[in-house]
Amino acid sequence: MSAAAAPEITWFHSFSLPDGAELAGQKPAEILRQEAEVIFRHGVAGKSVLDIGAWDGFFSFEAEKRSARRVLATDHFCWSGPGWGTKAGFDYVHGQLGSRVETLDIDVPQISPQTVGGVFDVVLFLGVLYHVKDPLKCLEQVASVTGEMMVVETETALDVLPWPVMRYYEGTELNNDPTNFWAPNRRALEAMFRDIGFKRFEIVTHPCLKANWKRTRVVMHAWR
Ligand SMILES: C[S@@+](CC[C@H](N)C(=O)[O-])C[C@H]1O[C@@H](n2cnc3c(N)ncnc32)[C@H](O)[C@@H]1O
Repeated sequence: MSAAAAPEITWFHSFSLPDGAELAGQKPAEILRQEAEVIFRHGVAGKSVLDIGAWDGFFSFEAEKRSARRVLATDHFCWSGPGWGTKAGFDYVHGQLGSRVETLDIDVPQISPQTVGGVFDVVLFLGVLYHVKDPLKCLEQVASVTGEMMVVETETALDVLPWPVMRYYEGTELNNDPTNFWAPNRRALEAMFRDIGFKRFEIVTHPCLKANWKRTRVVMHAWR
């Protein structure tokens, strides 16, 4: 199948395909490149990687490109659930790359060692935390399949406060999206991760925050 067969897909991620085709998604290639530099700064070579909420799969394919031993991409909301997309984009790029990334259609609340087939060295939880209604319970589940390190990319809020707190967004208040619920501050992120068994953290400001954004966003690496 040539890249010319792709246009009917509404892309979230952008891709440069081996045949030279450029697929322009909602997330521009330059932003994805900068995100990937931060997300993969500790490497995944030789590691098993689970990408939860993979959508078009940019970070799953990037983990494979960066020599992960095995990559499992999961999603449900945007693959076969009520979300904004389908799995067609993922499948198309998978074919174009000749990828060996595995897939599992599973919703976040169903994630467990039993359902995903064990524990992964590295778990990517990117752009998903603020979508879930019960963040701590969800993090406990994601932690249950994390062997060494979890990478979380998320909205944050209220970092000026000296306590661990989360901000709740009513209706479409956050980014005009009714599926956005919670943003923790950095203290709350670390506190929750300590409570679910993680020992070491590294939190960096998202590399692509627009200067005029009132919102804040971070990438956190957390080690057991
Ligand atoms: C903002 S996208 C992030 C995609 C990708 N991980 C990234 O960082 O570019 C949110 C992802 O979370 C998934 N998701 C899981 N549960 C969700 C929910 N309850 N509401 C919205 N999105 C949800 C979506 O299917 C989608 O893949």
